[in-house]
Amino acid sequence: MATYRAALIGAGIIARNHLDALGQLQELTASAVADTDELKGRQVASEYGITHYPDYKEMVIKERPDIVIIALPHHLHEACAVWCAEQGCHLLLEKPMALNVSECNAILEAVASSRVNLMVGHTQHYWPANLQAKELIRSGKLGKLIAIHDTRHLFYYGDSRPSWFFDKDKAGGGILMNLGAHSIDKIQWLTGSRVKSVKASLTYEGRIGDVEGSGCIFLQTTSNVTAVIIQSGYEGVAKDETELIFSNGMAKLISAKGLWVSKGGQYEQVKPIVKEDPFVLQFKDLLRAIQCDQDPDSSGVYARSVIAALEAVYHSDEKGVEISVEPK
Ligand SMILES: NC(=O)c1ccc[n+]([C@@H]2O[C@H](COP(=O)([O-])OP(=O)(O)OC[C@H]3O[C@@H](n4cnc5c(N)ncnc54)[C@H](O)[C@@H]3O)[C@@H](O)[C@H]2O)c1
Repeated sequence: MATYRAALIGAGIIARNHLDALGQLQELTASAVADTDELKGRQVASEYGITHYPDYKEMVIKERPDIVIIALPHHLHEACAVWCAEQGCHLLLEKPMALNVSECNAILEAVASSRVNLMVGHTQHYWPANLQAKELIRSGKLGKLIAIHDTRHLFYYGDSRPSWFFDKDKAGGGILMNLGAHSIDKIQWLTGSRVKSVKASLTYEGRIGDVEGSGCIFLQTTSNVTAVIIQSGYEGVAKDETELIFSNGMAKLISAKGLWVSKGGQYEQVKPIVKEDPFVLQFKDLLRAIQCDQDPDSSGVYARSVIAALEAVYHSDEKGVEISVEPK
């Protein structure tokens, strides 16, 4: 069995999810982590028994990993992904793919000319309850899917959030760029279609930074399912729910918790399925793609469609009109 060596770039909040998942897969070994923050980098390296490098280029040149996992602030995704692709590394690039469509195109070009594989970390595809919801839609048991109502409330301004998340130049946006990317991905993936148009209204009432703290989005998909996304990062009650409205019933999806179904009465929980950690499933998908020389489920071209929809969201808010998302 071939073993692939993986190296991580960015030892921040999401780093341990990737390293824990790597530890569960025989075909993958973690060799090193790069982070400019020596304290964080060394801490993660010592926890997982791997080498720390302050400079990711030095790490890639010395370690020659087969795969790099890029878990950096959003404004660094493009340059790092392009450079690592040019070094011949396959990429697991964290969501959102990049700050805008033009950066996504640069990454796609580098990946194509270096003939490496690129997966973008849209982890929504791997949560067990999400997989159950996708199967429910496919089965037609509740009839035709008509609309989706996705709500996310999460206090966004806590002290533990790194400051770059509040800087538009570095994050590309606020709660919608970060968590809205998950919602748009979830809607596209569940419906097997793409966002066709958006009308969005955002607010900028956060205590720090220049990014939006909330947003309401009405969107239409190429499958003619309409959706509403409401997200708020202001103080309140935390909520992460996706309601699916069908012609013969409804379903309520809480990604990390479960799926509930109503055929007219109260919601009843669907028996949960036992699945592996989403980050393990994500690596398995990447491995399959590398071994079969195919695009993974969450390919670069797919992930660019999420960024195109997000670009349209900011554009719609600025102009106050509905914006079409150009098909690529
Ligand atoms: N898939 C998910 O569910 C999920 C969850 C959380 C975060 N994310 C994504 O993961 C990425 C990282 O987010 P995070 O929350 O871990 O951020 P973070 O700020 O905690 O981590 C980023 C790390 O990158 C390091 N860094 C900055 N510049 C660097 C450079 N030039 N070279 C090497 N290291 C550098 C920082 O010191 C920091 O430790 C983002 O794209 C984010 O949206 C995804």
